Amino acid sequence: MSEEEVNRPPGIPQGDVIVVEDLWKTYEMGSEKVHALQGVSLRIRHNEYVAIMGPSGSGKSTLMNLIGCLDSPTEGRYWLSGHLVSELNDDELARIRNKEIGFVFQTFNLLARATALHNVELPLIYNGTPADERIERARQALRDVNLEERMNHKPNELSGGQRQRVAIARALINRPSIILADEPTGNLDSKTGDEIMALFDALQQKGNTIVLVTHEPDIAEYAHRVVHIRDGKIFSDEPSSRIRHPEKA
Ligand SMILES: Nc1ncnc2c1ncn2[C@@H]1O[C@H](COP(=O)(O)OP(=O)(O)O)[C@@H](O)[C@H]1O
Ligand SMILES: [Mg+2]
Repeated sequence: MSEEEVNRPPGIPQGDVIVVEDLWKTYEMGSEKVHALQGVSLRIRHNEYVAIMGPSGSGKSTLMNLIGCLDSPTEGRYWLSGHLVSELNDDELARIRNKEIGFVFQTFNLLARATALHNVELPLIYNGTPADERIERARQALRDVNLEERMNHKPNELSGGQRQRVAIARALINRPSIILADEPTGNLDSKTGDEIMALFDALQQKGNTIVLVTHEPDIAEYAHRVVHIRDGKIFSDEPSSRIRHPEKA
């Protein structure tokens, strides 16, 4: 086989933006090994809306961090938008990750001393966007999550739901095609959580691919496909009941 054939995912259908093949992640804790992922294979198409569910410790965050290129697998292969991630150098990886992926975390991960506007514009500072364009785009991103009037407030002057909206605006600032959200409603009450999920719905309708980790069935119902993982393995992968019972949508 040529090198190119080796590197191409086997029979990759057009439109698969995430292709994970036999992924393993083993953490070494002193002499002990934790097998957080044990042979996970998964394909996600452009514009899919997938929830990953499973009990605490089942490997959800480990899988999301690998999909988000925040960590690398012990074994297995991962193609992000057709690129075999292990073959990319640091610059290529950073470029593809910034272009393709926006990450949203349970704990928001905002800079405490910075205003909402500054938090949102930060990724643009890192990639050298000029200041006036940065501010305009950050304002627009905050407008998109309905938070423009709060742009000069710091995180501790915002509610949990508002903080998560700032984090979503920051995730969107580079116009990524894939949004990865790890327990994005985990620190929110259910009404605020539903407001955040409505934002993800709108993003999916605008063409984004959404991968959401949650252990809450009500939240997983927003997705169109639900993947259950247990002990680092995929246990089931099926349409959500929102799709199976469309009258509930
Ligand atoms: N950095 C790490 N070092 C050692 N073990 C880890 C690390 N991250 C996660 N683990 C372990 O891997 C397993 C899966 O963790 P995680 O992916 O965080 O699960 P989940 O997000 O489903 O709760 C757990 O047993 C956890 O303790
Ligand atoms: Mg987790």
